Amino acid sequence: MEREKTKEKRVCSALAPFGTTIFTEMTTLSNKEGAINLSQGFPDFDGPIEVRKAASEAIMRGPNQYCPSIGLALLRSAVADKTKRFYGVNVDPDTQVTVTAGASEGLAATLLGLLEPGDEVILIEPCYDLYPAMIARAGAHAVYVSLVRPGFDLPKEQLKMVIGKKTRAILINNPQNPCGKVFSNEELNWLGRLCRKHDVLMISDEVYEHLVYDGRSHVTLLNFPQFADRVIVISSTAKTFSMTGWKVGYVIASEALSEAVRMSHQFITFCTPGALQEAMALAMNMDDSYYDSLLKGYSAKREIFCNALADMGFEVLWPEGTYYASIDIGTLDFFDDLAFCRYLVSHVGVAAIPSSFFWNERRGGRDLVRFCFCKKDETLTEAIRRLKKWKR
Ligand SMILES: Cc1ncc(COP(=O)(O)O)c(C=O)c1O
Repeated sequence: MEREKTKEKRVCSALAPFGTTIFTEMTTLSNKEGAINLSQGFPDFDGPIEVRKAASEAIMRGPNQYCPSIGLALLRSAVADKTKRFYGVNVDPDTQVTVTAGASEGLAATLLGLLEPGDEVILIEPCYDLYPAMIARAGAHAVYVSLVRPGFDLPKEQLKMVIGKKTRAILINNPQNPCGKVFSNEELNWLGRLCRKHDVLMISDEVYEHLVYDGRSHVTLLNFPQFADRVIVISSTAKTFSMTGWKVGYVIASEALSEAVRMSHQFITFCTPGALQEAMALAMNMDDSYYDSLLKGYSAKREIFCNALADMGFEVLWPEGTYYASIDIGTLDFFDDLAFCRYLVSHVGVAAIPSSFFWNERRGGRDLVRFCFCKKDETLTEAIRRLKKWKR
């Protein structure tokens, strides 16, 4: 007990309130119980074999030493080429692309490089837990607005009310984890105009950019040249190439904003492993058929998993994007989503994430539970079998 107390005190005051992330907690519990882990968002299969081969060859061949802090020219060019190919946007790989250790470090470098103590950053909840933690570590304050359920609509009036002199940035996640919202063109444009009016930066986490369903296309904030001087887009190879452990991400922004990102990135990780960057350059340059089959595969998993949950009698929130599906447990006999997830992992053998952890005040999502469906078909089938058996 005494030891616990001492340990707690050693965590800086900015981070202490956040504790261990719910993803670590649920994955640890899942491993302990031997459950099927549909909690933390990582696939149970690896990305393309040729990409893995390229990485191992690059490791054997070298160089294996520090590479340029901003990233290998090869990968920065691949990012620029992919941005042109999918979104029709030209970015300069030398001045506008920075390679980071995953989107996580991209977000940290962006927030630490751009925020002043006392600044406010508007977060649109439900939101990824890294955002408030890094905003706090930067000495800034998160100001929350909630998407309006059931459709997860943008709370425009509330946004107009909270934006002000202290606001330095709005941080969005598009497509959005955990609710699967995909921002419409109109919403992005509206946000851009609001930010321009108040001279506020727009940070957009687009790690699920290639997972947008039902024939819709991803619209990146880079698609709005009129806002280019205030936009920072952060993405990652983790989800698109099914290699979440490699942690190769990147930040795209104007030269001036990239300078701020690079300034902090050099002091956080300095650089990202060169061999993995080389392999991810190859991955990004793969032709459209790779991206098509990724989307086709996840679309099929979404259908199978969401339909199965609906057949069991759950109210399912079909995602417009991402590889997460949520259910509403409001009518079930559980205290809240955390109690439900703890029960599920130990009694049913399936791990999920209590969605309330994506809200600042947990009551916002206490009736929602998130499952990830980025799993082999046989894993999903077994998870469905276990859930069905329990539900019966
Ligand atoms: C919304 C969001 N942003 C960022 C990340 C982290 O990305 P990376 O693994 O590239 O650091 C995740 C991972 O789940 C995520 O869901």
